[in-house]
Amino acid sequence: MMSILTYFLLVLLLIIPFISLTYAVEINVVDFGARGDGKTDASPAFLKAWTVACSSLEPTTIYVPRRRFLLGQITFEGPCTNSGITLRIDGILVSPAYEKMGSAKYWMLFDKVEGVNITGGFLDGQGSSLWSCKGVAGQDCPVGATSLTFFGSKDVTIQNLTSINAKLYHIVILSSQNVVLQGVRIYAPEESPNTDGVHVEKSLNVRILNSGIKTGDDCVSIGPGTKDLWIQRVACGPGHGISIGSLGKEVNEEGVENVVVKSVVFTGTQNGLRIKSWGRPSKGYVKGVVFKQVVMNNVQNPILIDQNYCPNNEGCPGQHSGIQISNVTYTAIKGTSATKVAIKFDCSQTSPCEGIKEQNIQLSYLGELAESSCQNARGVVLGSVFPPSCL
Ligand SMILES: *[C@@H]1O[C@H](CO)[C@@H](O)[C@H](O)[C@H]1NC(C)=O
Ligand SMILES: *[C@@H]1O[C@H](CO)[C@@H](O)[C@H](O)[C@H]1NC(C)=O
Ligand SMILES: *[C@@H]1O[C@H](CO)[C@@H](O)[C@H](O)[C@H]1NC(C)=O
Repeated sequence: MMSILTYFLLVLLLIIPFISLTYAVEINVVDFGARGDGKTDASPAFLKAWTVACSSLEPTTIYVPRRRFLLGQITFEGPCTNSGITLRIDGILVSPAYEKMGSAKYWMLFDKVEGVNITGGFLDGQGSSLWSCKGVAGQDCPVGATSLTFFGSKDVTIQNLTSINAKLYHIVILSSQNVVLQGVRIYAPEESPNTDGVHVEKSLNVRILNSGIKTGDDCVSIGPGTKDLWIQRVACGPGHGISIGSLGKEVNEEGVENVVVKSVVFTGTQNGLRIKSWGRPSKGYVKGVVFKQVVMNNVQNPILIDQNYCPNNEGCPGQHSGIQISNVTYTAIKGTSATKVAIKFDCSQTSPCEGIKEQNIQLSYLGELAESSCQNARGVVLGSVFPPSCL
């Protein structure tokens, strides 16, 4: 009896360390030499930690403690043997000034990774000196680097991350699939140029949930080749709203398909729900979009389709967009417009908008009746729609 019990206890004692090893590998960037003094470049240490996590066979957490880390341009490169990497960040990651980043397009780039979770963290893009440079006419400034990019990646979660003052976009999801952004906070001043909150392009099954975005450009911009995108419980503003496009800059372009934007609030934004395409020939399209339960607070263009985008009137022969827009539903949209035309469908003469559905819309302008404006748009009206539909 006794000896069997002792035997089991001994076996347990022997295997416990292995259980914990296979379950919770956690490595700390400080142990790889990251200083966390806000001055010494911590990217060599982050890269060493990444190499360990990426080549491990066990789920691995890279922990970033509550300090301030200066992080130069860094690529977290895959593919990895590990599909369970968590980056748990309690600290602040600070980007170098733009002068030190040359023509880099990315600050933090995750390239071809699979199974990566980022939890927490505060990214400071240090964008203000670049915005000032861009604000001076004739000055030669770089385009700037996006703060956080996932490229060619799969099964990614970004939770409770805060990103401020990106030099260019804050977060880009490019050529990736199965990505969830949850509880993300994005902030840049209203007048900061091109600081889009989240840009999604050529990606499949992306979800943006429970997030707040205040910035100088689009809160979310949706590029060609985006399919199955779900945006829910997002507060946007200041900013330029949620925009599908600009699309149709190229002739051969992938379409945008199956997008849902639900329970979103826009406050003081330039646009609310926008679809925008160049007035140029293109084989691209937008189909299967649902906008629902949306609140507009003092939004300049609450509902807008603009197919005549052509900055400086250059390169838009005939000004007709080839982008075919179809099956777009606007339902339960209410609030206030900051201009008289609250709903504007300015569609292409050669590819008119088809299957637009307006249902239960209640938008006012300074307490007065607002207006709708339609060009080349066809569709149906259900329930009560104010301003009265022109479909
Ligand atoms: C990442 O997060 C997702 C969703 O919360 C979860 O299912 C998955 O197990 C997590 N992966 C790792 C490596 O922690
Ligand atoms: C993210 O924040 C929410 C709210 O503060 C919290 O409930 C949740 O557990 C956090 N998620 C993670 C993975 O830390
Ligand atoms: C319209 O789009 C919705 C949402 O993507 C989709 O469920 C529906 O099948 C589409 N309808 C048509 C007629 O294509």
